Amino acid sequence: MKNLERTNHVDEISIIPTGGAVGAEIRGVDLALPLDVDCVTRIKQAIWDHCVLFFRDQQIDETQQVRFTQYFGQAVPHVRKQRDRPVEEIFIVSNVKENGEEIGALGNAEISFHSDLSYLRKPGTLSFLYAVEVPRTGGATQWVNCYQAYETLSDSMKERLLGLRAVHRHYVEEQNPPKLVDHPIVRTHPETGHQSLYVGPHLTKSIVGFDEAESRTLLEELYSHIMQPQFIWTHEWQVGDLLVWDNRPTMHRREPFPQTERRVMRRTQIFGDEIPVE
Ligand code: OGA
Ligand code: MN
Repeated sequence: MKNLERTNHVDEISIIPTGGAVGAEIRGVDLALPLDVDCVTRIKQAIWDHCVLFFRDQQIDETQQVRFTQYFGQAVPHVRKQRDRPVEEIFIVSNVKENGEEIGALGNAEISFHSDLSYLRKPGTLSFLYAVEVPRTGGATQWVNCYQAYETLSDSMKERLLGLRAVHRHYVEEQNPPKLVDHPIVRTHPETGHQSLYVGPHLTKSIVGFDEAESRTLLEELYSHIMQPQFIWTHEWQVGDLLVWDNRPTMHRREPFPQTERRVMRRTQIFGDEIPVE
């Protein structure tokens, strides 16, 4: 008898680049169903090639999102604890309040460019965000290609950055590890071998060994370089979108949206290894 069970098949996957600085849409995959090793290999390669992927019209529950995440590494509960989470690896990003209490994190304001969990010694590698409810206006997310940002620096700036490290710190003091965390300003991706800039205005605080003014001047110079429109791609969310991004060669920023609108996203994440000193 013919097997009518639905399944994902690598031959049905198509990868459609956005044509922008990063990003590709993946079609032909149902994330509610398991993926075999060929499908996972294809998707992984697409992440290394495009840095950010989106899958539209997905109907997945929390457990299915965690299963998809686990194909790429160990899904780890977020460092910030949230109440009443049936699936502990899921972190809710939302402005919604129930009985006066926020159901998730990050509110409705702008979140400036950052790389997830860079305030940890072993920062985020891949993040996954699934749209449950989206606002009618605002709340888009932008990604910047930090490979391109690095490559387009002048040779003298590249030389200047050699060996420099920057301190990363979360603005909510309790979330930081006790010991100050710093990372290289230029990092090499373990899968692609390409170098990228790893500083952003939301979480990077200072350059190790620089005085405050010197540090601020250099960081501001790097930020204005990184944030040029040709390096940036914007995603307008639809309900059922699942985005996965690589935090090592990208940063992202969330646009604000009205507090009168509801935005509910489910997030999972994978943390990496300590960034090696080159
Ligand atoms: C995050 C984040 C942006 C968004 O979850 O790390 O930055 O669009 N979210 O909600
Ligand atoms: Mn983030």
